[in-house]
Amino acid sequence: MTYPRRVPVKLTDSREKLIVALDVESGEIARDIVADLLGVVSTFKIGLQLFSAAGGSFVSELAATGARVFLDLKFHDIPNTVSKAGIEAARLGVWMFNVHASGGSEMMKQTVNDVGEFCLKSNLALPRIIGVTVLTSSNADTLREVGIGGGVEEYVARLARLTTESGLHGVVASSNEIGVIRSVVDDPDFLIVTPGIRPLSATNDDQKRVMTPGAAIAKGSNYLVIGRPIIAAPEPRIEAMRILEQMNASSQEASSLQ
Ligand code: C5P
Repeated sequence: MTYPRRVPVKLTDSREKLIVALDVESGEIARDIVADLLGVVSTFKIGLQLFSAAGGSFVSELAATGARVFLDLKFHDIPNTVSKAGIEAARLGVWMFNVHASGGSEMMKQTVNDVGEFCLKSNLALPRIIGVTVLTSSNADTLREVGIGGGVEEYVARLARLTTESGLHGVVASSNEIGVIRSVVDDPDFLIVTPGIRPLSATNDDQKRVMTPGAAIAKGSNYLVIGRPIIAAPEPRIEAMRILEQMNASSQEASSLQ
């Protein structure tokens, strides 16, 4: 069974590229943030914390408002379990979800095929399916601790190659690795989603491999995931607008150089 692997990507302005991580403890708090950001932000990430607190019903509720939802549960299990979880994510109406690329090609291929078949059969839009490479809170020491030598770049390159060979739409990685990923994946439509974004004024929190919003755009990130710098700001809406301005300025600079 084959289905269109690539979802046509339409990235018109910076708003399309900003994903706000709703890392909060309840649906009520998340709803307030979404309402505050209405008209400024159109894509939200629901991760382990909010999913554990508010569940799938919150995911489908948010998706039903027309917002794009990135379900960031980083599935890592046997192929059957991950592909079935992917089908449930698609049923909830998510726009994007992810799996750990280190779960291997059999798991990734089965997920992409089974979710693709399900979406075709059910007349649902195919979510973008993304492989997590190395978490932005990890560095070479973290990898060495779990028995992976050779450094972050080498491992990210290996996982990015495996991800594209398995038919996924892209990867989650640090902006620092965009260059190495583009050098090993010869496909301009391959998506790179980058967390670990920090405006110059913000602290790094637990992130170790960070970059500013403007620099991540200039490097060629397709989607920037930003959590605490926006949701923990005194005025999240103002902060989101400030970040969008930085992203826009960087996009315009990049296009004027072409
Ligand atoms: O608050 P902050 O901007 O650091 O949030 C980053 C978000 O991106 C978190 O929700 C985190 O789970 C997620 N993430 C990450 N690194 C990855 C994949 C996802 O930080 N490699």
